[in-house]
Amino acid sequence: MPFKTKKSRLVTALKKRSENMIRIINNTFVLLTEQTSYIFSANPNGLLLHHYYGPRIPFIDVRPFEKKLHGGAGTSCLYEGQENQWIDLLDLEASFVGKGDFREPMISISHPKLGYTNNFKYQGYELIKEPIEDLPTSYDSNQTLRIDLYDDLYAIKMELYYKVFEKANVITKYVKVINESKDTLTIHKIMSHQIDMQASNLSLLSFDGAWAKERHRHSQPLTQGIYVMDSKSGVSSNKHNPFFIVKGESTSEFHGDAYGFNLVYSGNYTSIIEVTPQQNMRILQGINPYCFEWTLKTKKAFTTPEAVLTFTNQGLNSLSQNMHYFVNQHIVRGLWKNRVRPILINNWEATYFNFNEKKLIKIAQGAKDLGVELFVLDDGWFGNRNNDQTSLGDWYVNTKKLPKGLSTLSKKIKKMGLMFGLWVEPEMINEQSELYKAHPEYAVRVPGRTPSTGRNQLLLDLTNKKVRQYLIDQLSFIFKNAQVDYVKWDFNRNMTDMYGTTLKNQGEFFHKYTLGLYAILKELTKAFPHVLFESCASGGNRFDLGMLCYMPQVWTSDNTDYLERIYIQTGTSYGYPLSTMGAHVSDVPNHQTLRTTPLESRFNISCFGLLGYELDVKRLTLSESEKVRNHIRWYKKNRKTLQYGTFYRSDPTCFDANSSYFYCINNQKEKAIVGFYQALLHPSLPEDIIKIKGLVDNKKYIFTNIKQPINLSIFGGLINLVLPIQITLNGKIHRIICRLYHPKPEDDTYIVYGKTLNYAGVRLHQQFMGTGFNDKVRVLGDFGSRLYVINHFNMKKYRLKRKQLSRG
Ligand code: GLA
Repeated sequence: MPFKTKKSRLVTALKKRSENMIRIINNTFVLLTEQTSYIFSANPNGLLLHHYYGPRIPFIDVRPFEKKLHGGAGTSCLYEGQENQWIDLLDLEASFVGKGDFREPMISISHPKLGYTNNFKYQGYELIKEPIEDLPTSYDSNQTLRIDLYDDLYAIKMELYYKVFEKANVITKYVKVINESKDTLTIHKIMSHQIDMQASNLSLLSFDGAWAKERHRHSQPLTQGIYVMDSKSGVSSNKHNPFFIVKGESTSEFHGDAYGFNLVYSGNYTSIIEVTPQQNMRILQGINPYCFEWTLKTKKAFTTPEAVLTFTNQGLNSLSQNMHYFVNQHIVRGLWKNRVRPILINNWEATYFNFNEKKLIKIAQGAKDLGVELFVLDDGWFGNRNNDQTSLGDWYVNTKKLPKGLSTLSKKIKKMGLMFGLWVEPEMINEQSELYKAHPEYAVRVPGRTPSTGRNQLLLDLTNKKVRQYLIDQLSFIFKNAQVDYVKWDFNRNMTDMYGTTLKNQGEFFHKYTLGLYAILKELTKAFPHVLFESCASGGNRFDLGMLCYMPQVWTSDNTDYLERIYIQTGTSYGYPLSTMGAHVSDVPNHQTLRTTPLESRFNISCFGLLGYELDVKRLTLSESEKVRNHIRWYKKNRKTLQYGTFYRSDPTCFDANSSYFYCINNQKEKAIVGFYQALLHPSLPEDIIKIKGLVDNKKYIFTNIKQPINLSIFGGLINLVLPIQITLNGKIHRIICRLYHPKPEDDTYIVYGKTLNYAGVRLHQQFMGTGFNDKVRVLGDFGSRLYVINHFNMKKYRLKRKQLSRG
């Protein structure tokens, strides 16, 4: 027997603990995470009853949790005539059609001879290893439970899967049905999960939008009725993100109960919340039954995508932190997991379709000089693509623009010390293309109908194996040949005219398309494990956990305007970590809004994400180049904290106030970085106070602002009030003075305890608002922002620095 040390005993104890995150006591199932309990049981009638999801609690016996229904319930029906089984009033873990539950069902499968009534009864359970399915799923759960239900008349097996992620405080659920009958069955609706609970004083937070306006936060009280957020466009969509929150009415960023839900899926989905007159709430999430009908032949199985659930009683920041941890540890995988991401330059807004090798090399060289690490060649490098009307599908180099080929360009870029990245939009085809000439049947369209177009393009039929193989071959060749380090995988139209030439049942089109896409991504990410994939769909039209299983980052939005990005990135941050959000500094006036905002503000918002540049660096002035160089240098030093630190939003956020801030704290709690963002300057604004939760109470920190140069020109004609002579505005002298003289920016440097930062916060200098200016005044103006850095305070280092400074 090996000798057991204290450490090994501890390891065994910990292991045992984490092995026991699922406890089964007399047909009651208790799923535990660090801070939550999820409890359900099977009753003697074979129904699966939901009892509790909330803060972690001890469990002795199921009786206190049980719903006590005695006596009649008006027009309700008794399940199989059994005493008190008013099924419409019970909190169920799985519901079905036809037995007296008249709420939105979780599952509906019809039998060719016996109709639409399902009856799934509990059969047993098994603790299992995480199974491997065709769909992307989370990984490394602590434990997985399978619950078996059976509809004996229709002979359908239904398996409910539960995965527990202890540290993330996440439980995931999905469903598998297997046809054990001799007949072919039809699935009309199959949700990934269901949860029934009480709904008093709850409200819904959803993240909705459109192109260039993705994931804005919206709130509404949940009263009686049915609420639906869904997608019918073939992708998870920018209309409503699959992530949503149900929270207590008074829950804020730092306090209160909140449930978060998401789906590991990129196609049409639905999220349904039904609140009954008895204040029972049912939440369902899964594949959208819209245009969905699945043929389930004898012995065949169907598996749903995985749903993700989390709970906190400590406010929305804590809920987001659960989701962030879950995405970083259990969704994103491969070489780029937990790895800092490179700063990129993308040529799209610098050149659009109009480029040649020389132009690109110049941009790349300029960017390299500023400290950029990755050059991305965007749309227009292939076929005959000089505008958005042609060539999608023709994945070979455009020799007019790049006569020496992609591999030569790539080599030159790499020789500079940059990584090389490439844009592709593989799921599409232009009618004006060689591919279309050769294979019109590859395009999605209903025979005999003129298809609708989006951005002049049609969709490729990924339900067809031949099309999938064509794409795998073409892309593999390019990725290899051009030695790509990074791929931006775009998707620029929604789906219409759904029809698959090889499908027998067109009701399977949408889901089979998504499965086809996943099959391609699985193959390519396996063949090119070192490549960093970034998912894009006209910006954030497919920002979801399904894509994140293959591509660790997403182009958050085509909109790079400072102000718009505050809303988009704040909204996105509720469900997704900063390590997934592409955020680029672009030119002004901004190409989407025509708004002009300061370069510092564009950087200050982009650095709370995966920093990139989307402009022609050669057109920057000398002073702008210097600023960009400094920004990049600073970002490199701090990106680990910004990409992987613990992220918090201020309360109120930008959705409720004119100014707001975010911050990230590093894992050692020695450093925090704050981004403060203002929309417009208004007179007599409330005082700005930065409060930081999450640092160590009794540790000292030094809080300081990044000094942002003030451009004298923003004072306009006011300059004549302080000058001994009167000068002409925008005249030569004015311009020289503005270039040479930079007023000293405010200094907000303080030494504070962690606890002070949490409760009292730091009160910032008053903003300029038309009543005078000196070196204490904080000049923000419209679209102004600041970065603050909080470091663990080290007296010795501080004294040394001051000494050095005083010596000059
Ligand atoms: C989409 C993307 C952009 C750019 C263009 C190129 O709109 O979101 O970033 O790549 O396509 O056509």
